[in-house]
Order: sequence, then C-alpha cells, then structure tokens
Amino acid sequence: MAKSPGIDSRAVRHESMDDWKRKPKIKMKGLILAGGKGTRLRPLTYTSAKQLIPVANKPILFYGIEAMADVGIEDIGIVVGDTHRDIRSACGDGSRWKVNITYIQQESPLGLAHAVKISRDFIRDDKFCMYLGDNILRDGLHDIIAEYEKTRANSLILLTTVPNPQQFGVAEVDRMGNVTRLVEKPAEPRSNLALVGVYLFDKRIFQACENIRPSARGELEITDAIQFLITSGYTVRPSMVNGWWKDTGKKDDLLDANRLVLQNIGRDVQCEIRGQQPIEGNVIAHKEALIMDSRIRGPVIIGKEAKIENSYIGPFTSIGPGVQIRGSEIEHSIIMEGAEIIDIDTRLADCVLGKNSLMTMSGERPKAVRAMLGDNSQVSL
Ligand code: G1P
Repeated sequence: MAKSPGIDSRAVRHESMDDWKRKPKIKMKGLILAGGKGTRLRPLTYTSAKQLIPVANKPILFYGIEAMADVGIEDIGIVVGDTHRDIRSACGDGSRWKVNITYIQQESPLGLAHAVKISRDFIRDDKFCMYLGDNILRDGLHDIIAEYEKTRANSLILLTTVPNPQQFGVAEVDRMGNVTRLVEKPAEPRSNLALVGVYLFDKRIFQACENIRPSARGELEITDAIQFLITSGYTVRPSMVNGWWKDTGKKDDLLDANRLVLQNIGRDVQCEIRGQQPIEGNVIAHKEALIMDSRIRGPVIIGKEAKIENSYIGPFTSIGPGVQIRGSEIEHSIIMEGAEIIDIDTRLADCVLGKNSLMTMSGERPKAVRAMLGDNSQVSL
C-alpha cells in the first residue's frame, strides 16, 4: 500500500532534486478546494482558513498538496475564497513541493460543483484529481490513480463506511459493484457508504456541473454532478478506502486526524533536554525546542522554540512553534503557535488551543474561573 508523504517519517526528510527528476510524471492535474468558510470550526476559523489549521504541526492543506506531488502531479489549482491571502502566503507558487500552483478565486462558496465549473480554464481537457482541502487520506493517491487509469471510467469516487452517513454524500452500490445512486446528506440514508473528499474526473464532469441545480442548502453539489454522470450513462467506479480518511470539519475530527497522523511519526528528538525525566516512544522535537524536567510520552510533536517545563505531555499531542507549557499536564490535544499553558493543576485533554491563547491558574482570591473567550468558543470544565 502506498504511503502518503506527509504522514510518515518523511515529514522530516527532504527529497533531493535527483529524486524529483527520477519520479515519473503523470498527465493529470490536481484541484484542491480551499474556499469553504469552516463555520463548524469557529472560533478558530475567524482568524485562520480551516485548511491551514495544523495537524501534527502541518497545515491540513499541505497533506493534499504533498499527496499530489508524491504521485507526480505537477500542476495544481487551488480554489480559494475569502481566506485567499492566507492560503496564497502559506503555499506560494508551489516550488517548495516542486509543483506549480495556480489560484482560482471563487467569489462566494456556491458549492463544490461550482468550484469545478470555475476551474474549467485551468483543467482544460485533462483528467484531474479533486481533493477537498480539509481532508486527509492516509494512503495517498498512488493506488486510486492506478485504478482509475486501469478502469478507464469517467470518474472514480472513493467510499468508506461511516456510522453517521447523514452528514456526508451517500452512495448506493449494487451487487456488481456499480454505483446506482448518490445523495448529498440524506435524512434517511439508504447505505452507510460515505463519499470521501477525493475524486477523479475526466472532462465530462464539466458538462455535469452545467446541468445541475442548486441543492436545498443553495449549493451546486458535486454529489449531484456525479449522479448526473450516472444518469447520463457515463461510467462512475467506486473504490473503497483501505486506510483511514478524515474530513477535519469539526473539532473532534481534527483531534482524530491529529491522533492518526501522529501514530506514524517515528522518533527524532533533536532538542535540548534538561533534567532526568524520560522522553518515551515516538517523539519529534525541533532542535530549537527546549524540554526541562518534563515527561513526554509519545506520540508527540514539538515545534520550533517551544518550551516545556515541569510538565507532562501525553500521547497524541501536537505542540506548535513558540508554545510554552509550564507546570501542567496535557494529552490528546493540538496547541497552536505561541499559545501558553501555565500552572494548570488538572490534566488537560482533547483541547484545541488557537494561536497565542493563554490558559493559566492565577491563584487569585476569590478562587474562580476567569475567562475571555472569543465568539463560539467552547470550554468544558
Ligand atoms: C463534502 C461533500 C460530501 C462529502 C464530504 C467529504 O461535504 O459535499 O459529499 O461526503 O465533503 O468530506 P461538506 O464537507 O462540504 O459538508
């Protein structure tokens, strides 16, 4: 099974120019959709594009770009919306991944099929891989692209079983393995097969996107466009996802994705360590981080200039650059750049802390919980 580059130890290995030249290129374009508003991840998305929220200290969006670069896709279009400036400055022209990135501006979030429509000039008549910018697919794209090429279908869709199909596009597949029907977020799903946010298309999808009407939520749904292909007699092949897949649209999904990525990070502790406490298991710590008198139990990733003092960092925790943790215990959490956690005397778990946020125990009387929380913040005491 092919592995995605961002998820294993290659997170810290850099490919040489020779590696790149040897890699076979494929004549397929990439299209990453990063225009959504991310309302389910507020307040984080008031100040950050949801696709730039870090999972294992790397923006979610980069996993999709890396998966495309890894199969030799050279031209990637990124559909952007209101957060285009941040996305442009994070991804640049793509040279970091040795790909060419073209930005396609979507004036308003009118749906995934709308994003495809406005990408026509970029895609032209090429086949393309569409990847939702908040999705992470563990096994990368090698196998599904090979399958797509082999079947010569007009589209290949990825499916996986989920416990909550109402929240996804849902597919019905007959005994012969043909997709018979697709419905976007059905109230009464007829199967538990969800559409994963990675799709392979040929130019027929443009015709489909021209022929559908907005859904009840006012969007042109890609699910309806694929249904149009089926109804029009084009071939749509399903492929079951073998490894894990995550749509990081909500807080718990974000933490899940973080756990799944950290599961395979390997060990690379380069930072300065003071004191006798152990650094156990798979831990990646940047050389400019500092760990003092603290116990770290991986999998954990610790970013540049993070400082951990007299603390316990438990499994599945990502600590961003410049984070300070002192006199506290934390596990299964994402702590973003510049955040501080100081002298909290209860163990923190399942936390997502945005950039430069502060959690501290002041010892002031009267003893009380004092807070300044942004709109839509959540605290569970
Ligand atoms: C979108 C698609 C849906 C698909 C899901 C996968 O939903 O419309 O069919 O199952 O992505 O992540 P959204 O995340 O826009 O609600």
